Amino acid sequence: MNDRLIIFDTTLRDGEQSPGAAMTKDEKMRIARQLERLGVDVIEAGFAAASPGDAEAIRSIAGVVKHSTVCSLARANERDVRAAGEAIKPAASGRIHTFIATSPIHMEKKLRMQPDQVVEAAVKAVKLAREYTDDVEFSAEDAVRSEMDFLCRIFEAVIAAGAKTLNVPDTVGYSIPQLWGERIRQLIERVPNADKVVWSTHCHNDLGMAVANSLAAVMNGARQVECTINGLGERAGNASLEEIVMAVKTRRDVFDCDSRIDTTQIVPTSKLVSQITGYPVQPNKAIVGANAFSHESGIHQDGVLKHRETYEIMRAEDVGWGANKLTLGKLSGRNAFRTRLQELGIVLDSEEALNAAFARFKALADKKREIFDEDLHALVSEDAGIDACDRFKLVSLKVCSETGEVPHAAVVLSDGGAELRAEENGGGPVDACFRAIEKMVGSNSSLLLYSVNNITTGTDAQGEVTVRLSRNGRVVNGLGADTDIVIASAKAYLNALNKLFGAEERAHPQV
Ligand code: KIV
Ligand code: ZN
Repeated sequence: MNDRLIIFDTTLRDGEQSPGAAMTKDEKMRIARQLERLGVDVIEAGFAAASPGDAEAIRSIAGVVKHSTVCSLARANERDVRAAGEAIKPAASGRIHTFIATSPIHMEKKLRMQPDQVVEAAVKAVKLAREYTDDVEFSAEDAVRSEMDFLCRIFEAVIAAGAKTLNVPDTVGYSIPQLWGERIRQLIERVPNADKVVWSTHCHNDLGMAVANSLAAVMNGARQVECTINGLGERAGNASLEEIVMAVKTRRDVFDCDSRIDTTQIVPTSKLVSQITGYPVQPNKAIVGANAFSHESGIHQDGVLKHRETYEIMRAEDVGWGANKLTLGKLSGRNAFRTRLQELGIVLDSEEALNAAFARFKALADKKREIFDEDLHALVSEDAGIDACDRFKLVSLKVCSETGEVPHAAVVLSDGGAELRAEENGGGPVDACFRAIEKMVGSNSSLLLYSVNNITTGTDAQGEVTVRLSRNGRVVNGLGADTDIVIASAKAYLNALNKLFGAEERAHPQV
C-alpha cells in the first residue's frame, strides 16, 4: 500500500468561508508561503470564480509557491473551470478541483438537476479541466448522504474522463468513523479503476468527528486528506490539519502511511492563521492550544519530571512550541528588520511600506522591550485592510476611565484624509470609543464579536483585538494590535469598517 499521505490544505478556501475570515491577497500570500514551508502537498488557494480579486489572489500564489501544488476550486460548469484554469496557469504544479453535489437532497432541491445531468456535468467539467492541467480532482459534494450506487457510477465516469484524485466529502459533518471508513473501503472496492486514482476525504466537524472520520478514511485506503489549520471552516469547521498529521505520525503503529509535513512549523502556522483571520485558538485545543503541553496537576508534573513519556506522547518542540524567537529589540536596525520579515515570508511590496512598518516597529520597541515573531506579524497585519479600501484611520484617541465615573472617549479619525472628531460616554472605555467612532461613521453595522488576546506573554505584551461586524448579510473581522488594548480595539473596529466599506461582491461556491 502507498505509504505517502497527501496533505491537501484548504484553509484559504473552505477555511476562508468561516464568517468574517475573508482575507486580503497579501494575507493569503503570507499564509500560502507558510503552508509551503510547513510542507503541505496541495494548497487550495481559493475559488477563482468567486470574484476577480479571488482569481488574482490564486494567480499570485501560483506565481510564488514552488514546492506545493496550487489548486483552485471550480463548480462543474464551464465558466468556473475556465476561471480556475486561468488562475493556476503560473503554478509550477497546478490543480483544478471541480465538484458537484450527488445526494438526492442536493440534486433535487439545490441543483434542480436529474442524476443523469449531474453525471454529464461532472464529466464535462473534468474533461475541460484536463485541457488546463493533468492534475484534476473531482469531489462528490454531500457524498455522505449520496446513494452508494450513484457515487460508484459518477466516480467511474470521472475516472474515465481523466480525474486523478477522487474526493469523498462529508459536507455536513454527519458521519461517524466506522461508517465513514466503511464507505471509503466500499468505494475503493467497487469503483472500476479505483487503483488508478488517489482517494481523498474531506470531513466537516458538525458532530465533532471530522478528524476521527478522516483517520478512519485513511485506515481504509484514502491517501489524501483535506483539512485546515486550526480546523478553521464554515460552521463547526473542517478536519484539523495538525491533529491529523500528528495522529498519523504518533501512531505509526496503526497507520501504514505518513505525510511530508515539517511538524516544527505547525505552531507558527497555527498562530499566523489565527492572527490573520481573527479566529483565536481555544487553550485546550489539541497540538496548538496554549495548554496542549502544559502539565498543571502535581501528579502529572512529577511524572513528567521523572520520565517525560509517563504523560507526554509527543514533544512540544516537535510541533514548534518554544520556537517563537525573541527576534528583535530597540536597537535593531532597518536591515535586521527587513531580513527577519523575509525569513518569516513577509514581503512588503514597496520601500514606503517597509519604512512605515519600520517606524511602527520602532514605536513598539519603545513600549515593549522584546519583540517576537508574532509581534512582527501583527505589525504588518495592521496595513492589511481589504486591498482596495483604507478609508478610515485612527489619528488620536483619549479615554477617561475612573472608579465611580462614567467612561468617556474622544476620538479623532481620518476619513479619506478629512479629519473627523467625536466624543461619547459608554459602559467602559472600549464601549465609549466604539460609540464615538460609530457617531462619525454611521455604519449601522451590528457587532457580532469582540475579543482580546495577548499576542505573547507578560503585561507589556501587545493585546490583539478581533471585532466582527455584520451589515446586510456581509460579515467581516477586523484586527488591531497595540500594547494599549483600547487603542488596539479602536484599530480593530476601524479595520473592520474598512473591510465592510471596501469588500467586493463574491460568490459562494456551495450556495
Ligand atoms: O464540504 C464540501 O463538500 C466541500 C466541497 C466543495 C469539496 O467543501
Ligand atoms: Zn467543505
